[in-house]
Amino acid sequence: MSDRLGILGYDYVEFYVGSAKMWAYWHAKALGMVITGYLGPETGIKDKASYYLEKNHYKLVITSALSPSAYDVNSFVTKHGDGVKQWSLKVKDVNTAFEQALQNGAIPERGPKKFEDENGWIEEAAIKLYDDAEIVFINRENYNGIFKPGFGKPLQNINISAQETGLQAVDHIVGNVRTNEMNLWANYLNESLNFETFINFGPGDISTKYSALLSKVVRSKEGASVKNPINEPYEGIKKSQIEEYIEVYNGSGIQHIAIATPDIIKTIAAMRANGVEFLTVPDNYYDSLKERGLEVTEDIDELKKYGILCDTEGKGYLLQLFTKPIGDRASFFYEIIQRRKGAQGFGQGNFQALFESIERDQELRGTLDR
Ligand code: FE2
Repeated sequence: MSDRLGILGYDYVEFYVGSAKMWAYWHAKALGMVITGYLGPETGIKDKASYYLEKNHYKLVITSALSPSAYDVNSFVTKHGDGVKQWSLKVKDVNTAFEQALQNGAIPERGPKKFEDENGWIEEAAIKLYDDAEIVFINRENYNGIFKPGFGKPLQNINISAQETGLQAVDHIVGNVRTNEMNLWANYLNESLNFETFINFGPGDISTKYSALLSKVVRSKEGASVKNPINEPYEGIKKSQIEEYIEVYNGSGIQHIAIATPDIIKTIAAMRANGVEFLTVPDNYYDSLKERGLEVTEDIDELKKYGILCDTEGKGYLLQLFTKPIGDRASFFYEIIQRRKGAQGFGQGNFQALFESIERDQELRGTLDR
């Protein structure tokens, strides 16, 4: 038997939140996503509501509980607040992927199960990730209905006006874990899913005089499009922002999702017009960018106008920007990324700029001191 799982790429991401309707509205307004599906009492599900949203290849399910009987959603939200419950991998065959992952050491959550209705069938299975997160293997190729059986057309409010953001697809999904958990989870993904470590930021690579982190990036050997950085706190005189995340989220979980765009200037202009708040970088960031003499197509003054970060990576370069946490807790946020001239990895300069920017907000929240 081959050790390949038949991974084709990311499929959807699912959030568990306090109010799915509000979260769906935010994603429609801020990211220009379209609500194309709904699951709830009107479709025969009594105790949950889910909204399905799409923007090109970025697919999202947002779920909340309608009664105490929706125990999985309630217990997750009670513990973590709003957050990512699962991300999914499109696979050729769910049985093959699940069996191979288990043989490789994955911890099972749910075995393969088929769901069907008059529009066809889907199959899915799930393995464990971090504290209360999951990775779902899914095959929806034989389904012609809305998302998957149980979902119907959205009931109302689907024409939410927003500036066109041009967002395309998930670029990477990042986890924050406790001290000494990074290697454990990197090895888990590498072994279970046939991934490999391709970047390692060690002690001192990403730090300020106050605080630090360690980070490893793992990616699928079957398709480099699936990338998962994992961060853990590193010792410093003050509290690492990864420790802050672990405290406010009450455990390990997904810190951010990066979504790719073919034109970051247009995307950020649209998202700012849609009311999205971003992390800020000091003006002197752009002075040093000019001094470094990077060969970039974009006008640096325009990057400065929109607050976009720029860093070399391999023979290409990366343009990135990070939103502020989108909920009330300083946990989940989005990244917008444009990879230029074949850049595949993650620039240390931008990672450092992100780290410093979050640290400034940490100081405002009063969570930098222990
Ligand atoms: Fe990122």
